[in-house]
Amino acid sequence: MEQPIVHTELHGRVALVRLASGNPLNPLTDALIDALVSAMQRIEADPAVHATVLTGSDKAFAAGADIVGMAPLDYATAFSEDLIGRNWDHLRRLRKPLIAAVRGYALGGGCELAMMCDIVIAARDALFGQPEIKLGIVPGAGGTQRLPRAAGKSTAMLACLTGEALPASDALACGLISKVVEPDALIEEALRIGQQIARHSLPVIVAVKEAVDRSFESSLAEGLLFERRLFHAGFSLADQKEGMAAFLERRTARFVNR
Ligand code: HXC
Repeated sequence: MEQPIVHTELHGRVALVRLASGNPLNPLTDALIDALVSAMQRIEADPAVHATVLTGSDKAFAAGADIVGMAPLDYATAFSEDLIGRNWDHLRRLRKPLIAAVRGYALGGGCELAMMCDIVIAARDALFGQPEIKLGIVPGAGGTQRLPRAAGKSTAMLACLTGEALPASDALACGLISKVVEPDALIEEALRIGQQIARHSLPVIVAVKEAVDRSFESSLAEGLLFERRLFHAGFSLADQKEGMAAFLERRTARFVNR
């Protein structure tokens, strides 16, 4: 029987999804992205899961899109088959939080996959980069768009124009990632963050993610209005009554996710 190339295991309300393509560098073949999309869609549909940790191997989160598969492509095929858009775009529509836990290489599509996640934490040995320019192409899954938003223009230009990778310490300093930990502590720390998120009310978790994401798509005035409407709508939830009652009664809230 064929081995699954994406493994999912549950840790309470947090799913741990591991890319395990057989090559520890996890080249992001269409098959690997399709398997990841399927795993994530199952998680989206499962009300018992509130957050996901996405990780790779000890050597790489992912070393980029599959160069073997891309090398012979022509424009007509890339365009008509909607290369990248066809499957990767499902990942940016996920509503539950996704935490990237990065060890080793996160290059090209691997760096872009990490940047599609909501929170990125990394081991000290992680390397983030957009080396596409060395292959004679531009990044294709958000490198030129998400990197400047996360790390600023100068860092993004440097990374995309030279193709040189940023070590985890630099990625932390420029705001691309939130935390650097020892390699052995990475999964435990990512799951700990996931559990901290997952103990909250699912509709509120989803609303918070939606509101933060909206800040990248709207003017400040529109974003503030969007947030205010979500804030107002929150008073329709049983979990608002429960959260505030629990605070006033000095006890832990028991959220019912509605
Ligand atoms: C296909 C890849 C691959 C990739 C590595 N391999 N990266 N195959 N696609 N992205 C393969 C190698 O060909 C080799 O296969 C095996 O994995 C081991 O790789 P080595 O190079 O021998 O390993 P190492 O010396 O440890 O170097 C690791 C590395 C290097 C620094 C990560 O492999 C590397 O530079 N890889 C390419 C990184 C890259 O350019 N990424 C961007 C891709 S373009 P064999 O068969 O020889 O063992 C991209 C576009 C994004 O991502 C578009 C939107 C998604």
